[in-house]
Amino acid sequence: MSEGNSTAGGNTEGRRLAELAKRRGFFFQSSGAYGGVAGFYTYGPQGATLKTNLEEAWRDRFVTREGHMEIDAPDVMPEAVFEASGHLDTFDDMIVECPACDATHRADHLIEDATDIEEAESMANEAAMEVIADHEVGCPSCGEPLADEPVDNFNLMFGTNIGPGDAAPGYLRPETAQGIFVEFPQLAEYARNQLPFGVAQVGKAYRNEISPRKSLVRVREFTQAELEHFVDPETDEPPLERVADVELPLYAAAAQQREEGTAVEMTVQEAVNEGVIESEWVAFYLGLAAGWYDRVGVDMDRFRYRQHLPGELSHYASDCWDAESEVDGDWVEVTGFAYRGDYDLTNHAAHSGEDYDIFKQYDEPVTVERPTVDPDMSELGPTFGGEAEAVAEALADLAGRNPDAFEGNTVTVEVDGGERTVPVEQTGFAVEEVTEAGERVTPHVVEPSFGVGRLVYTVLAHAYETDVVDGEERTYLSLPSALAPTTVGVFPLMDRDGLGDRAREVATQLREAGLAVTYDDSGAIGRRYRRQDEVGTPFCVTVDYDTLGEGDSPDLAGTVTVRERDTTSQRRVAVEELSETLQSLRRGDIGFGDLG
Ligand code: GAP
Repeated sequence: MSEGNSTAGGNTEGRRLAELAKRRGFFFQSSGAYGGVAGFYTYGPQGATLKTNLEEAWRDRFVTREGHMEIDAPDVMPEAVFEASGHLDTFDDMIVECPACDATHRADHLIEDATDIEEAESMANEAAMEVIADHEVGCPSCGEPLADEPVDNFNLMFGTNIGPGDAAPGYLRPETAQGIFVEFPQLAEYARNQLPFGVAQVGKAYRNEISPRKSLVRVREFTQAELEHFVDPETDEPPLERVADVELPLYAAAAQQREEGTAVEMTVQEAVNEGVIESEWVAFYLGLAAGWYDRVGVDMDRFRYRQHLPGELSHYASDCWDAESEVDGDWVEVTGFAYRGDYDLTNHAAHSGEDYDIFKQYDEPVTVERPTVDPDMSELGPTFGGEAEAVAEALADLAGRNPDAFEGNTVTVEVDGGERTVPVEQTGFAVEEVTEAGERVTPHVVEPSFGVGRLVYTVLAHAYETDVVDGEERTYLSLPSALAPTTVGVFPLMDRDGLGDRAREVATQLREAGLAVTYDDSGAIGRRYRRQDEVGTPFCVTVDYDTLGEGDSPDLAGTVTVRERDTTSQRRVAVEELSETLQSLRRGDIGFGDLG
């Protein structure tokens, strides 16, 4: 079961979610007036706030509470960045084009839909062609057989030109991460060159997906919340004890390769001890994130961590675990936890010529032997002409790597693909004793990379509930109070006899206390409750005749009814305590039952 196995529109759960999302303003396809463009979505008033609340919850957990920094880099970056990062050469998906209707499709998705193969993206193009032919896979748009159609690589980056003309090509970033890596030299200074440190970014990423599908799940413009944690691979260790006992549902690569394999529950500590998770840093983040997913409303019975199969790893990762949520019977990757090693920093250093490492001071200076050369250029110049400088550089490089090479009478280096032999006495080779205060270290990177849209989609799908209230079916979103776009709906029982004025005063008071409030006086009170239930508003406040001291119970004067969404139970709360009570409920400091 994978994200690739579902039909474009999704099944029942996906369809009813898309319907609710459009009707109630969570999200809808953009530019509908012009026919819409696949893979671009607008978050409506409810969805934009839900997404912001989710991003804030992410910042709170992964930036503020961990003491990391956050930056905001441009979406457009010059071509050189993506030459260095490897995206120009390798950020491809497999494409196959229908000879009859010209529709283009992701070949790996067609294979996953038509066969039992789960991760077809790791297949070679020729192998994919064979599977398409063997299984007589047809074009999903028109049915034409795709056998013998070439499977090619398609680069997913959106290109553009920076300024007029085409002299300065640029790309919309396919991951926010590159905006962090490129600025590493500056960021290391802000971190006072002390490892480990983490840099986060929440921002847009762009991928020209071949087949956008399942509304927010595979789109062409989406928000990522990424953390790049720079660590010294030799000495830095994560605070594993903080998450050691957290239970993780782990679907390791070895289990996936077995016919009957499934996810297995084990604690973070057990997974590290048994070598199921190789990197302690990755294990730490899987543990930290598990608690966070639970808090933001992911149903942990519909959740697992799946390790990438070797052929599935991105060009930069040596190990990667995906957090996957189940929606509609399919697994959706919501986050990738990758061990990127020094891939990015080393490549940016090589391509830019800048320093992408850190000077790490020793506790005590140490004395070491260092081989050096001081070539006699008056001899090398006449012998090697224009190549003399390159020969001198090659000698210096060789002395550092292999000082034993200077033990004979001559030493041979390679320059421009050819061998150059130099008498050792002309190289000025010597081994000096030097005292060093520290060393240069290229940090390794551990990267939790969250897709915000896929999390919004998951949280909404997992919050979607139906029940029967007063003999009528109702739909409600059981969102965590802190995440819900609106915290409280305020209603007058009826908009007359001063009830509306009092309710408007209550709404203003709650807004001034910083709560997200909707005021609604239209239609029957039951309808108003249903409207708030459908957008996940956790509490509704009703002003009635008792509030005004004009009802049957004079002792209820100055109180309002507060109703809880999921249970529909109600309590009376004094207006003067209302904002404080609702804030405490929203934060989770008290439960509704505590209201007495
Ligand atoms: N910097 C690492 C990186 O970008 P990724 O696995 O390609 O890794 C990270 O992407 C997350 O971004 C994914 O787990 C997913 O949640 C989200 N994502 C990736 N492509 C997406 C798309 N086309 N539409 C929506 N979300 C996407």
